[in-house]
Amino acid sequence: MAKDTMQEINITQVENSRLKDVDFNNLDFGSVFTDHMMVCNYKNGAWEAPEIIPYQEITLDPSAKIFHYGQSVFEGMKAYKDIDDAVWLFRPLENFKRLNISSKRLSIPELPEANFMEGLKTLLQIDKDWIPKIEGSSLYIRPFIFASGKGFHASPADEYKFIIACAPSGAYFSGKVSVLIEEKYSRSANGGVGFAKAGGNYAGQFYPTQLAIDKGYNQVIWTDDNTHEYIEEAGAMNIFIRINDTLITGPTSDRILDGITRKSIIDIAKDENINVEIRKITVKEVVDAANNGSLKEMFGAGTAAVVSPISGFGFKNQDYDLPEFENTYASRLKKRITDIQTNKSEDKFGWRYKL
Ligand SMILES: Cc1ncc(COP(=O)(O)O)c(C=O)c1O
Repeated sequence: MAKDTMQEINITQVENSRLKDVDFNNLDFGSVFTDHMMVCNYKNGAWEAPEIIPYQEITLDPSAKIFHYGQSVFEGMKAYKDIDDAVWLFRPLENFKRLNISSKRLSIPELPEANFMEGLKTLLQIDKDWIPKIEGSSLYIRPFIFASGKGFHASPADEYKFIIACAPSGAYFSGKVSVLIEEKYSRSANGGVGFAKAGGNYAGQFYPTQLAIDKGYNQVIWTDDNTHEYIEEAGAMNIFIRINDTLITGPTSDRILDGITRKSIIDIAKDENINVEIRKITVKEVVDAANNGSLKEMFGAGTAAVVSPISGFGFKNQDYDLPEFENTYASRLKKRITDIQTNKSEDKFGWRYKL
């Protein structure tokens, strides 16, 4: 898409920063917010210039269509600070493109690249001191768009808000992650919105995930809605399965999010001379591999957790443990991708983006 020109970004800074109140050594994920946020409105058929304002609550009309028809999409990305205090993003244009792919599916007007990139860069410059430097920590960035236009009529809104808010964050998961292979519920369907980062997709996951938690698991492995025979995603992450020395992940589709971590991991794994297969994989193949000892690893991949190793899974009232060993693909690939993200290693793929 062409780079659009845009009016100047108005900036209103906070009088007193909250930065001094934050304990950067004890950050959890996504619950402390930086001093500022970026807001960009869609009105009268066009996106206006972004504004940077102090982080604050927003007021909406009770009939705003987001509340009734769920017209909302979002992204998740991170900023990292290296030892020289330089700030890096990871493939930010992929997030921009995916936001518009999601918007299109939800009938939300397409956002110009300049509003996304210039708004994001200006916000990060202003809140730069909030980007953690501690190993494993980063600034989690949440761009989102929702229908702020009014009316109970079930149709797309005429007004939208695009906001970027940021949260300095520690590691997403800690400890072992055990998962339940889902046999009844689905997060997405053919022809649906599973490939979009639409808010409602996540609302629909909460209940089945809670049922799995009640049974003692941490997450759900989503299977295809039609047969529940194929493995699709792990919670809100793409999934990788290692059988013997082959790394397998399902092809993206209507039902599977085209994860930026997923496609980066595929490229890094190939670069490591790991045999990668992008193909459908059945639950039966995974259960058989667990039974005959060829199932070596399963892990989720996504921006928040980066790579999240799975310690075992449940299926049809039976639990299967994965082996524990050193130098796993998960640990190797996680190190390679985080070293690129945090400017600790060469970036042969050209993924890093300097602020
Ligand atoms: C459903 C789903 N799958 C996969 C991912 C991983 O995508 P990415 O690596 O771009 O964060 C996410 C998170 O964004 C997600 O919500």
